[in-house]
Amino acid sequence: MRAVDIIQKKRDGGELSREEIAFLVQGYSRGEIPDYQMSAWAMAVYFQGMNARETGDLTLEMAMSGDQVDLSPIAGIKVDKHSTGGVGDKTTVVLAPLVASAGVPVAKMSGRGLGHTGGTLDKLESISGLTVEMDQSRFFAQVGEIGVAVIGQSGNITPADKKLYALRDVTATVDSIPLIASSVMSKKIAAGADAIVLDVKTGSGAFMKTLNDSIALAKAMVDIGTQLGRHTVAVISDMDQPLGYGIGNALEVREGIDTLRGSGPADLTEVCLILGSQMLVLGGKAKDTDEARSILKARLEDGSALAKLKALVTAQGGDASQIDDPAKLPAASRQVEVKAAAEGHIEAIQAEEIGIAAMLLGAGRETKESQIDLAVGIVLAKKVGDAVSEGETLAVLHLNDASEAKVKEAESKVLEAYRITSQPVTPAPLVYAIVT
Ligand code: URA
Repeated sequence: MRAVDIIQKKRDGGELSREEIAFLVQGYSRGEIPDYQMSAWAMAVYFQGMNARETGDLTLEMAMSGDQVDLSPIAGIKVDKHSTGGVGDKTTVVLAPLVASAGVPVAKMSGRGLGHTGGTLDKLESISGLTVEMDQSRFFAQVGEIGVAVIGQSGNITPADKKLYALRDVTATVDSIPLIASSVMSKKIAAGADAIVLDVKTGSGAFMKTLNDSIALAKAMVDIGTQLGRHTVAVISDMDQPLGYGIGNALEVREGIDTLRGSGPADLTEVCLILGSQMLVLGGKAKDTDEARSILKARLEDGSALAKLKALVTAQGGDASQIDDPAKLPAASRQVEVKAAAEGHIEAIQAEEIGIAAMLLGAGRETKESQIDLAVGIVLAKKVGDAVSEGETLAVLHLNDASEAKVKEAESKVLEAYRITSQPVTPAPLVYAIVT
């Protein structure tokens, strides 16, 4: 078998066999197939696509390229949740304890933020002392004891995807639906969950900017899950404005705590109830999403979801008193208000611009090596549909030692992100579709 023949077959619109896909992925992982051939193949896939069978085979080959976590020692149906990434997306901070408090074991491996999107691990690390690093036996033991653990990816999970993703990033081949779907699902399959709930974001702050593309991506991922024997459901949720009000690590944890107390932002609470309901049904703890929703609401109201977050924080070495008193979380030394230049109604908030503004203040990483400041970020004062008068605060920048130039840049990004119209605005739906 030769890589050049496989590239040519795909270039001409052919369907690759399992053996051909395995040859490419394994050869690339071992360094036998060079970057230039893999790039040419990725570009051929970008233009010709792959069918569901090819996409499933690519997923499995990448999942098998490194360690595969066997969660079977943990009793129950393990349900994982994955978001395709957004701004202000702190759903895992809420969902992991919430779903665990309803009896679904959550053994979650999360990631760090890069660019305009944040990462769950950074958010959790704003709680003093909390560690996201632990070996597998401790990870399993913690899920056994308290029903939930959230850790960083340990070991060597999907090295083929890591290498291919880095290549796609520099060869303009990231935004291919079969390549994104196989990349995301290979990591989920290798992480060992029995069932998967995907939160596919759509809109200005998401990978997929249009609803049609988001649905196509969701279908591709659900198909892969079904082929590989993992019950998968995808929720298409709005990312045409940040989720909730806080963007930045400690600010988002604070909002997560509010949500677990029942006093969080309406959009965040609703998205968590929708995703959590799907997780409960897949986890066999509710017969349908109506029953699941009422179980979750009860766990919020009786304080058991919040208690589960405290148990998680304590088990991972963190200071649980910060959950009782979020004022003890890291806080920025200075606040700068960004004011509206005109009166009207908020029509849109470009989530990506807000994410970049938060990154400029130090909340996110420009490169993998960047140091982040857990205290800084942005708190929105206005969301889509709100009325605003001239000079009223749109958002507040929370900062420590950002240079004046960076503050000015962040301020103008926030102003650019807000679109104000004279007409009243009805906000877009929070969830557009559920793909099963
Ligand atoms: N996230 C991933 O993990 N992979 C992609 O290809 C795109 C987003």
